[in-house]
Formats: sequence, C-alpha cells, structure tokens
Amino acid sequence: MEALKGVRILDMTHVQAGPTCSQLLAWMGADVIKVEPPTGDITRGQLRDVPNADSLYFTMLNCNKRSITVNLKTPEGKQVLTELIRKCDILMENFGPGVLDRLGFSWERVHEINPRLVMGSIKGFGSTGPYADFKAYENVAQAMGGAMSTTGVPDGPPYVTGAQIGDSGTGLHLAIGLLAALRQAERTGLGQYVEVAMMDGVMNLCRVKFRDHQRLERGPLPEYSVPTYKGMGEVPRAGNDSGGGQLGNAVHCKPHGANDWLYIVVQEAVWEALARRIGPEVGMPDMATDPRLATIGERRKNQQLMWTLINKFAEKYTKRELMKILNELDVPCGPIMSTADLANDEHVRGRQMWVELDHPQRGKWFNVGMPIKLSASPAVIRRSPLLGEHTEEILREVLGYDEARISALKQAGAFSSAPKKAA
Ligand SMILES: CC(C)(COP(=O)(O)OP(=O)(O)OC[C@H]1O[C@@H](n2cnc3c(N)ncnc32)[C@H](O)[C@@H]1OP(=O)(O)O)[C@@H](O)C(=O)NCCC(=O)NCCS
Repeated sequence: MEALKGVRILDMTHVQAGPTCSQLLAWMGADVIKVEPPTGDITRGQLRDVPNADSLYFTMLNCNKRSITVNLKTPEGKQVLTELIRKCDILMENFGPGVLDRLGFSWERVHEINPRLVMGSIKGFGSTGPYADFKAYENVAQAMGGAMSTTGVPDGPPYVTGAQIGDSGTGLHLAIGLLAALRQAERTGLGQYVEVAMMDGVMNLCRVKFRDHQRLERGPLPEYSVPTYKGMGEVPRAGNDSGGGQLGNAVHCKPHGANDWLYIVVQEAVWEALARRIGPEVGMPDMATDPRLATIGERRKNQQLMWTLINKFAEKYTKRELMKILNELDVPCGPIMSTADLANDEHVRGRQMWVELDHPQRGKWFNVGMPIKLSASPAVIRRSPLLGEHTEEILREVLGYDEARISALKQAGAFSSAPKKAA
C-alpha cells in the first residue's frame, strides 16, 4: 500500500518550489489535487520544446497529480475552493507575498474552514522581517542564502549551482514540515501553519559554510586550498574544495574534454595506498612517506604539491579508468557525469531514476525518478495531468456535485475565465 494513501492534498503551488514538494508526496501515494488558474500553471507554456504541448518544465514536476481549474477571482470559484478545503488534509501554496490573503484565504480563514487541515507556504523570505514582501526565484535565493558567495573561485564572480537548491531544496524542506504537522494533526485534531522561506532553506544547505565563518574568528582554515586568515570575516569561494575534513578536488583526465574530470577525496585512511599507487608513476616512489605529504597536517599545507602529483597521474587515464584504479584502493571518487552520461547510465536506469513516460500531447519523454525508496511502498510514476483534466471528476467525486450544479458553475465562469488582477 502507498505510504500516504488516504491523504488528500490541495496543491495550489506553481512553478518549481512547490510542485517539487507535491510531486514527491504524490509519489508517496497522496491524492494531490492541483488547483490551477484557468490559464494554467505558467510553466505549462514556458521553455516549450513541442508546439502546443505541456513543457517538460511542467511535466517533470507535476506527475501523479490531478488538475482542476478554478477561477478564484469569482465568488463561485472561491466557494468551490472553500469546499475543497473542507475535504483535504493539506493545503499548500507558493504564491507571491499576500496573494492568498487578497484572495480571501489567509491561514486564519483556512483554519476556520477546516481546523484539522495543515497549511504549507513557501515564500522567498517568509512572512516576517524586512524582506517579507519580496518575490523570489531560484537564483535570488541562492544569492541571498549564502550559496553564491561561497561558490566559484576567489578572483572570479560568484556562481549559482546547477542543483536547484532554492526551489527544489525548499520543496523538500516543506515536505518534511508538512508530514510532521500532519502527524501532529492526526494526534490533536488540529492543523497548523508550516512556513518555509527559500532563503532559510538555502542557508540550511550552506550550514558548513557558516561553520567555517565562525572558525575564521579563531584562525585560518587549513583545509582550504585558497588563502584564509584569522578575522577574514567572510568565507571565501574555494573552487572545488571538499568542504569537509578530508581533502578533495576534481582532477582532469584523458581526453581532457569538458566533463573529463574525476572528483577525488583523499581520505586520511586511504592516503598510504593511494600514494604507493601514484608515487612510482609520477617519479616520487616515496610519496607516501615524503615529509611534505606524510601527515594530514602536512598534506593540508602542501595541497598544491599533492594535487599536482595526482593530476600528473590522472593525465594518462580516462575518468572511468582512473575511477577503476581508485575504487580498487577504496578511494572515494566519482566521475563528473554529464546529463548525457546520466541519461544512459546503467546504475541510474536500474534504480528507476530515469523513467520513460508517455503523454497525450508530447509522446515519449523521461522524468527523473523518485529518489526516496520506500521498501513497502515503491513509487509508481504516472504522467502529469492536462490542464483541468480532472475538473469534473473532482467536482463529482470529492465534492459530490451533480451535473446541474457543475453546469451552473461553469456558466458562472468558476473554472474558465482568465484571472484578472485584483483592483
Ligand atoms: C514565483 C513568483 C515570483 C511568481 O510571481 P507572479 O507570477 O507574479 O505570481 P504571484 O504568485 O505573485 O501571483 C499570482 C497571481 O495569480 C492569481 N491567481 C493564482 N491562482 C489563481 C486562480 N486559481 N484563479 C484566479 N487567480 C489566480 C493570484 O491571485 C495573483 O494575482 P494578484 O497579483 O492579482 O493577487 C511568486 O509566486 C513568488 O514569489 N512565490 C514565492 C516564492 C517562490 O515559490 N518562488 C519560486 C518559484 S519556483
């Protein structure tokens, strides 16, 4: 049985941050009802690769959901939402600041309508503080949560990371909060409001950088490959440094293309075996015991020498050949995998992390699979819904409306007119 079977979620989220969360909950078996404006989640039409078809941006974030269109700027649409709130366990949204209040569905009102219901919101910066009124997208959160200032090299610009830590990362945080609040609601009969700010989520994911920020008050950071000193104030960008207690970096391999790199962690426990294997081939047979490299303290001080030697060794091998050599020595390492590498990887396919789906508008396509594997409730991934595909089904099944009522609501524009900006 699916883990969240019987949990019904009113999913008012859009774009990426919220839909990531509701898709995961749907994969765990929740009945996720995606409430969309009559024009649809904006991502349906963004970055389209197939004319007139839902974009991959949308399809990859909205699987296993049902879609209902509701025009929340009509009294009839508001009434439908009110009744859906009564029938659901969770309501989630990631509108801009104040949007839901303007529509008449503040947390206080929602709690009044259904006291058991848990409500979750994602905002760029939360509901309090000087930034509360600002909208946010992924890279705004990366910029303001500490990720960008610590990504890149010291004499280059700050960089964003390809992993969507601001959007998808925040969605994961929300999922944890919702499930905790749901558990509590089951015990107490009372829902609560769960708020996750994207900036807070990014800070949480940059925790080790705030560790280093405080360490700088006491002295330099010996594991950093770039200069640091006591009282430096802010944590510098440090390229591909490991960020942990073990030294790590990416080395360039044959044939030296854009992704011909292997990330290697020179774990203390494997130093001797690694140095014995590398040393003879790079003209330093006593590399393991060389006083400049023999201890972790010395290796930190002489990182440049160590990485020069490892890079010299790597030059003769492809990333896969080098990985094989190092795996035999139990050295933690990983090839830099391109999207093409991953889409064709046997391990990835075997773990159902690159899943083929069919779609009435776009035909065959792939989604990244469910990363959380529940032994008794494996995810079954189904395609994303078309806009409003389940409007009538939900009105009949969930709200018990008959044909006459549905038709009257349709006439009144409850599901169809384009939303207008509030006056
Ligand atoms: C992502 C974001 C910047 C997009 O901004 P936006 O496109 O201006 O959208 P907003 O959420 O601010 O506003 C949506 C509008 O659609 C309207 N709307 C939404 N659903 C509706 C429906 N079913 N029926 C009628 N109107 C609807 C809202 O009432 C609002 O209109 P208003 O401005 O007149 O109040 C903003 O939603 C945001 O900051 N969200 C929180 C942070 C976040 O999640 N960001 C990451 C996204 S991946």
